[in-house]
Amino acid sequence: MKLTVIGCGYLGATHAAAMAELGHQVLGMDIDPDKVVSLNAGRAPFFERDLDDLLAKHTATGQLRFTTSYAETAAFADLHFIGVGTPQKPGEMAYDLSHLFSAVRQLAPRLTGPAVIVGKCTIPVGTAPQVIDILREFAPAGDQVDVCWNPEFLRESSAVEDTLHPDRIVLGLTGQGTRAESVIRQAYGKIIESGTPVIVTDLATAELVKSAANAFLATKISFINAMAEVCETSGADVQLLAEALGHDARIGRRGMRPGLGFGGGCLPKDIRGFMARAGELGADQALTFLREVDAINNRRRERMIDLAREQCGGVINGKNIAVWGAAFKPDTDDIRDSPALAVAQKLHQLGATVTVFDPKALDNARKAHPQLEFTDHPLGAVRDADLLLHLTEWPEFARLDPEAVAARVAVPRVIDGRSTLDPDRWRAAGWTYRALGRP
Ligand code: UGA
Repeated sequence: MKLTVIGCGYLGATHAAAMAELGHQVLGMDIDPDKVVSLNAGRAPFFERDLDDLLAKHTATGQLRFTTSYAETAAFADLHFIGVGTPQKPGEMAYDLSHLFSAVRQLAPRLTGPAVIVGKCTIPVGTAPQVIDILREFAPAGDQVDVCWNPEFLRESSAVEDTLHPDRIVLGLTGQGTRAESVIRQAYGKIIESGTPVIVTDLATAELVKSAANAFLATKISFINAMAEVCETSGADVQLLAEALGHDARIGRRGMRPGLGFGGGCLPKDIRGFMARAGELGADQALTFLREVDAINNRRRERMIDLAREQCGGVINGKNIAVWGAAFKPDTDDIRDSPALAVAQKLHQLGATVTVFDPKALDNARKAHPQLEFTDHPLGAVRDADLLLHLTEWPEFARLDPEAVAARVAVPRVIDGRSTLDPDRWRAAGWTYRALGRP
């Protein structure tokens, strides 16, 4: 099939490459010319495992191309996926849908024949009908343009795998037996044939599935982090608690790792955008618990600062603090709402000299936080440090020899914000080891 993907960020670029891998002819469209140059050269403008291989493979044969032109995009195919960003509005809880509406307004007047528009971006419930209104107003093809909402559940760091092997496909349709349904079932043919469940819904339910999924995931993380707070006051160990809880199949271990909490471009803004939308709909009471989910998450960052202060003898001002990790989670260079950088920034404001190392996110972190110190080696970060903070759990940190690290610091004190360092090994090497939620 021929298809296009409009908006080529983390979601769109991965979707475009994955669709090419499924055998389709794909044109990716983005308004950022630098991004398009990079993608056409087979390189993602961000780090995502396996994505460059896929981009290089399919741009080399011409099966996958990228453009900045809406005219070319509209002419290329009659199946268009939309994957533009829907960030949080600055200073507000609600989503900024301007990129979505702008993309649809640009595309609509160029739709002169039957077409299917598939929305993939995360949106507040009730947005798809607004997309349909724009299409009805501006598309010459009128009601020959069908709309489907098909939320994406990929995680950064396993985006390619999640896109090619999703655990479910949700199709929100305007009615039964629409052209959109048969076209999209054909596009995802190989995935569906491999046994992936397809859930067909109305538009509103499909929009809500994504909001509800991220709200649940955020709640699960904040639940275990709330338990960490209780552990901290009662002398219990939240890691053992999580393990014991996780054996109950109804609770499960996955997505319930205690630590410094969630960040990134999705969970924090999605729970806020969901609350804002519920308020507009008059259902705000249903989601007030998400306010607490957000608050618990932010308190983990404060707790890390308090522990750091305690470990520094009550005074942060003037101390050398090493920070391992800048990305919001391992295996990405994404620093949006990164808990690690939030802590690093706060310690800097409190007067510490903060030196940060991250395997992939240094460039992004440097641009966003020029006031912090950066180094391109984990051992460089700890030179003469009064305290080491382990804030993003890249596997390489756990593999480092704590004795070699101890030889470089001023004082061997570490706080493990993600509990993936081995306390026995670090203590045996002379470290004072502390972790969130553990005695
Ligand atoms: C999240 C969802 O997991 C995806 O299903 C969804 O498609 C995506 O948002 C989106 O809306 O686009 P992502 O933000 O890539 O994906 O990352 P997660 O792996 O969910 O991690 C989010 C944050 O929670 C990270 O900061 C991570 O360190 C933290 N986390 C995750 C925990 O603190 N504990 C856990 O057990 C899991």
